[in-house]
Amino acid sequence: MTDQTPGTVTITLDGTNKSSTIKLLEGTIGPAVADIRKLYADLGIFTYDPGYGGTAACESKITYIDGDEGVLLHRGYPIEQLAMNSSFLEVAHLLLNGELPNAAEKHDFDMGVMRHTMLHEQIRSIYQGFRRDAHPMAVMCGVVGALSAFYHDSLDVNNPDHRRISAFRLIAKVPTIAAWAYKYTIGQPFMYPRNDLGYAENFLYMMNAVPAEPYHVNPVLARAMDRIMILHADHEQNASTATVRLSGSTGANPFACIAAGIASLWGPAHGGANEAVLKMLAEIGHVDNVKPFLDQVKDKNSHSRLMGFGHRVYKNFDPRAKILQATCHEVLAELGIKNDPLLDLAMELEKIALHDEYFIARKLYPNVDFYSGIILKAMGIPTSMFTALFAVSRTVGWISQWKEMMEDPSQRIGRPRQIYTGAAQRDYVAIDQRA
Ligand code: SDX
Repeated sequence: MTDQTPGTVTITLDGTNKSSTIKLLEGTIGPAVADIRKLYADLGIFTYDPGYGGTAACESKITYIDGDEGVLLHRGYPIEQLAMNSSFLEVAHLLLNGELPNAAEKHDFDMGVMRHTMLHEQIRSIYQGFRRDAHPMAVMCGVVGALSAFYHDSLDVNNPDHRRISAFRLIAKVPTIAAWAYKYTIGQPFMYPRNDLGYAENFLYMMNAVPAEPYHVNPVLARAMDRIMILHADHEQNASTATVRLSGSTGANPFACIAAGIASLWGPAHGGANEAVLKMLAEIGHVDNVKPFLDQVKDKNSHSRLMGFGHRVYKNFDPRAKILQATCHEVLAELGIKNDPLLDLAMELEKIALHDEYFIARKLYPNVDFYSGIILKAMGIPTSMFTALFAVSRTVGWISQWKEMMEDPSQRIGRPRQIYTGAAQRDYVAIDQRA
C-alpha cells in the first residue's frame, strides 16, 4: 500500500469500487489507533472484536500498560516507583488531578478525603437487610449504590463541584462500607472511622478494632496495606473500569456507576481471582499435587484455570505481581512467620508453571491476584474480603476514569453494535398452525 497517506489505512471492499481511508491516531506512547468512526458510513460494515481485545474504546491520560514489556505507568510514573515512594492518597491525587501534589495540595486533598469517611447513620440500617452470611461484595454493591439516595445535593454529573465532592465521598466512604460489611458478617459492632489515622491504617483499624479495648495498627502492616492499595488503584480499561465508563456515559450518577464497577469486579476472571487463588491453593494442598493440578488445567474439558495467572494485556510478568511477591516476604517476616505453607506452595506452583510449555507458549505469567491473597491472609484479612479490598482501592481508578470521561467534550453515550446471526424476518404463526 505504497500510495498511503502517512498516518492512514485504506480499506477497500473486494468486488466494489468502495473504499474508506481511515486516519491513524498516534498516542504519546504505545500503538496507534485506526479511527474507524466513518467506516460504516463509507462501507456499510462494522468492525468485530468480541471482548475488545484489539479495540481502543476511549482516549485517556491516566494509565499506560505495555503488556509485552510488563510496564505500568500512572500519569507517566512507573508503578514500581509509586509503590516504593508514594502513598495511596497521593496516588489518588495523581490519578484524579494528573500531577503529584505539593505539600499544601496533599494536605488539602488528604483532609478532603478524611473529612468524608463517616456514613449517614441511616445507612447502618441498610446492613440489617442482608443475611449475616452475605458475601461482602453483595453488601458493597448494595450500599455503594444506595449512597445516591443520601446525596441529592451532588448528583448533577455536569456540575464540576458535584463531581469533586462525589469523588471525595466515594474514596472516603468505601473503606468504611467495606469494613462494616466484614463486621456485620461476624456480628461485631461497627467501628467508626478515625480521622487521626492514615487511609490504610484507618481501614485496618475499622476491620480489627472493637469498642471494648484500644487497638493499635502495626505500622508495617499499615504500610504494606497502603502499598497493596496503590497496586490495585487503576489499570487502564479493564472490565470493571469499562463498566464504569459505559454506565457513566448514560449520565448515571457516580455512586450508581461505581456500584456497577463493583459488580463487574466481583467475577473470578477479574477481581474475584484473588479469592479464587486461595481456594485453588487450598485445593492443591501440597506441592506433590501441583503437577496433577496443572495437568488438569491443561485439559480443556476440565474447565480449570490456574487462578492468578494470565492476563488479557500482560504477556510478561505483571509488574504488580513482582512487587507483591517482595511485599509477601516483608509482611511474613514482620509477623514472624518463618515459612508460610501457602507462600511456599504458591512459589513452587509459579516455578513449575513458568517452566511448563503450556504456560510458556500462551505467555501466562502471575498477575496481580496471584500473591495479593497470600499477603492479605497473613495480615488476617478473611478471604471473603479480598475482592472488597480490591474494590476499595479500584474506586480511585474508577472515579478518576469517570471524571476524565465526564470532562471530555466529545463524550457521548456508549452503544456497541453487533453481527446478527439470528433468524431473518418471518411472519407470526398461530399456535394451531405450529408443528
Ligand atoms: C485482573 O484487565 C485487567 O487489567 C484486569 C486486572 C486489573 O487490574 O484490573 O489486571 C485484574 O482481573 C487480573 C486477572 C485475574 N484473573 C485470573 O487470574 C483468572 C485466571 N486468568 C484467566 O481466566 C485469564 O488469563 C484472563 C481472564 C485473565 C484473561 O483471559 P483471556 O484474555 O481470554 O486469556 P487469553 O486469551 O490470554 O488465553 C490464551 C490461552 C487460552 O488457551 P487456548 O485457547 O489458546 O488453548 O491461555 C489460556 C486460554 O484458555 N489461559 C489459561 C489461563 N489464562 C488463559 N489457561 C490456564 N489458566 C489460566 N489462568
